[in-house]
Amino acid sequence: MSSTSLDQIVNLAKRRGFVFPSSEIYGGLASTWDYGPYGVLLKNNVKAAWWKAMVLMRDDIVGLDAAILMHPRTWEASGHTDSFSDPLVECRQCHNRFRLDELQDLQKSDKDKLQCPVCGTKDNFTEPKNFNLLMKTFLGTTEDAKSAVYLRGETCQGIYVNFKNVLATSRQKIPFGIAQIGKAFRNEITPGNFTFRMREFEQMEMQFFVKPDAAAVYYDEWKSRRLDWYKSLGFEMTRVRFKDHDKLAHYAKAAVDIEYDTPWGWKEVEGIHNRGDWDLSRHSEFSGKDLSYFDEESGDKFMPYIVETSGGADRISLMALIDAYNEEETDGETRVVLKLHKDLAPIKVAVMPLLKNKPELVEVATKLFHELKAAGIMAEYDESGSIGRRYRRQDEIGTPICVTIDFDTLENKTVTIRDRDTMKQERVGLDKVLKLT
Ligand code: GAP
Repeated sequence: MSSTSLDQIVNLAKRRGFVFPSSEIYGGLASTWDYGPYGVLLKNNVKAAWWKAMVLMRDDIVGLDAAILMHPRTWEASGHTDSFSDPLVECRQCHNRFRLDELQDLQKSDKDKLQCPVCGTKDNFTEPKNFNLLMKTFLGTTEDAKSAVYLRGETCQGIYVNFKNVLATSRQKIPFGIAQIGKAFRNEITPGNFTFRMREFEQMEMQFFVKPDAAAVYYDEWKSRRLDWYKSLGFEMTRVRFKDHDKLAHYAKAAVDIEYDTPWGWKEVEGIHNRGDWDLSRHSEFSGKDLSYFDEESGDKFMPYIVETSGGADRISLMALIDAYNEEETDGETRVVLKLHKDLAPIKVAVMPLLKNKPELVEVATKLFHELKAAGIMAEYDESGSIGRRYRRQDEIGTPICVTIDFDTLENKTVTIRDRDTMKQERVGLDKVLKLT
């Protein structure tokens, strides 16, 4: 388990503008969070890295952006209205509510011997009730059963209901995939651990449609591809592992989690599932539209199996912060540094004039800063405080390199490049900076 605590991450996230409590001026709203200037860049970079690997670099996967609100029958077909629930118990003494399975896991005990984690009362819980996690809202001007709809509980349902539309318009043939990034909502009984478990979160899901007899092979393939993705982003791979599901969901033929070694134990950040033909069969049945596939080459007609990869953009962003967080002793001080992969770092390069009251230095620095931005590189201009303090500030937000413009720059057109991880400095030509980032 890591030596970094979640408190250290939460403090850094607030102090440096990664994540703020939502609606903070009103006292916040339980377990909802807003991404600040650096947080939104980090999360966008996570999503861009995923999109690049899953759509841009592949000939056999296309993108989709389906609506959050879907026809309510969707959730009957998917099984969510019936079985998307957790067992809820209430302490009769203090009336706090908990997930029974979580209490049992934590206390390694059966229901009759549980202790309330809030008031300490023993063995005084209500009988468990199934609490449905779907969030309801109403469409239009009347709030009755007919206008009730759900905020989607997972993004993949938008993919299934569009299977035929995509097939008809994309010229893809099985095997092929549809990828989507978007918000999902679950009325979690016990959200928590910062942005790890929220009621509003973002998923990055890809559904790969295959012949039934090929599903097991694609399942293994996607397992290793997804693990490679974490490796390619520089995650410490001794802190990433597969965990097979002990119990399979009603739709699954095989399921594995990718887990990360968080400060509160190994936790799921992504799931990979062989969902069989459950999804397309159910949507065919409930919609009355035939979603089976006709293979022109073999003349076979079949219901495709689906291999799904489903990760959380918030969880993986939090995982990136935890994985990158380091505290190091340097010159009798503690340096906090985020050793983020350069593709994930919110700011790629910081440009600093040595002194802010020397117009000739400021002029060269601002010119370079604007050139970097014009080239599409997320740069930051930083002129306040000593150079040492400015380096520390950039270390804390994970900026891989800092470029300092000093008096030698005016003489010989060279700048100092300072590396975040080694703290080493070297002189390079001003015209080389763009290439280095
Ligand atoms: N379509 C399959 C599906 O939704 P899941 O395991 O329920 O599977 C997939 O969710 C991923 O979505 C999780 O691995 C996690 O990264 C993210 N996720 C799920 N619930 C979440 C929550 N309450 N807060 C943040 N992320 C969540």
